[in-house]
Amino acid sequence: VLPDRVRVHEVGPRDGLQAEDAFVPTSMKAEFCRRLVAAGVSSLEVTSFVSPRWVPQLADAEELVRELALPGAVRQVVLTPNLRGLERALAVGAHEVAVFVSATETFARRNLGSTVRGAMDAARPVVSGARSAGVPTRGYVSMCFGDPWEGPVEPALVAGVAAELMAAGCTSVSLGDTIGVATPGHVRAVIDEIVRAGVPVDAIACHFHDTYGQALANVHAALIAGVTEFDSSAGGLGRCPYAKGATGNLATEDLVWMLHGLGIHTGIDLAALCDVSHWMAGRIGHPVPSRVATALLAA
Ligand code: HMG
Ligand code: MG
Repeated sequence: VLPDRVRVHEVGPRDGLQAEDAFVPTSMKAEFCRRLVAAGVSSLEVTSFVSPRWVPQLADAEELVRELALPGAVRQVVLTPNLRGLERALAVGAHEVAVFVSATETFARRNLGSTVRGAMDAARPVVSGARSAGVPTRGYVSMCFGDPWEGPVEPALVAGVAAELMAAGCTSVSLGDTIGVATPGHVRAVIDEIVRAGVPVDAIACHFHDTYGQALANVHAALIAGVTEFDSSAGGLGRCPYAKGATGNLATEDLVWMLHGLGIHTGIDLAALCDVSHWMAGRIGHPVPSRVATALLAA
């Protein structure tokens, strides 16, 4: 049976913008967030407190969080790779933070300059520090299905990382298909393995990128497995700058179209969301990759 409600975690302001070369002014990022919330988005990934050398686009994280002033009911997550990131986030009153650990060694090195073990060791004090401050932590596992340098990833490896993040105190884990290579049977196998490792299914979110056009099929497989939280990006904008060949996240419009078609509530007004995506894409000078956002504009 499918759930009646799904939480859509909108990552456009973070995953969608992080690889943009031309700096998007802070006030425009804030406007993007506010418009998303006005369209019914209630869970939002705002920015990252990472090294500005690594992700120059998000160097304005403090300023953005201070300027935002979203309603308290909106869940706002920020990425914090290390204690330095956590301190910066807490100093501006972050509500929820996220750590990220790769399931594969090559991506751990390229995305964090570390190893899988090193990334986990860096994440652990961030999670406990956040917890002491009363702030929940989302734990991302990247490259859960395939890695552009290492090929397919063993489900047991992913389950080990996910279970370790939960044991460290994360309140949820998000399974990243960073390069979009997953297919539905593989998704089911990974979720089953993680549940077998002791992680409750309601603590699992799925974060699909749509590089190979499989993201919606993968969402459907995850829904059947009991997952009720999905990450997506308005319009399908974005990619990870450190993952070779990765395109944008699953588009929020495509996700919401399918969920609403299945009779599943999201709280999102699809037409309003489309307007936001076209507005943002126009500002940064990109076409909107989302099929649904394109079709609705023409309809
Ligand atoms: P490093 O270069 O190995 O570490 O980076 P470092 O300790 O030598 O620091 C380098 C410089 O950054 C130093 O400054 C530090 O002070 C500074 P310098 O002395 O050179 O002037 N620094 C910081 N500054 C501000 N905030 C901080 C911070 N930490 C260090 N928090 C580090 C290590 C972890 C910092 C770096 O690798 C990094 O920032 N990585 C983040 C990369 C990133 O954001 N990737 C994209 C997000 S993950 C993703 O997209 C996947 C996801 O979507 C899920 C999926 O799709 O799978 C989540
Ligand atoms: Mg991502």
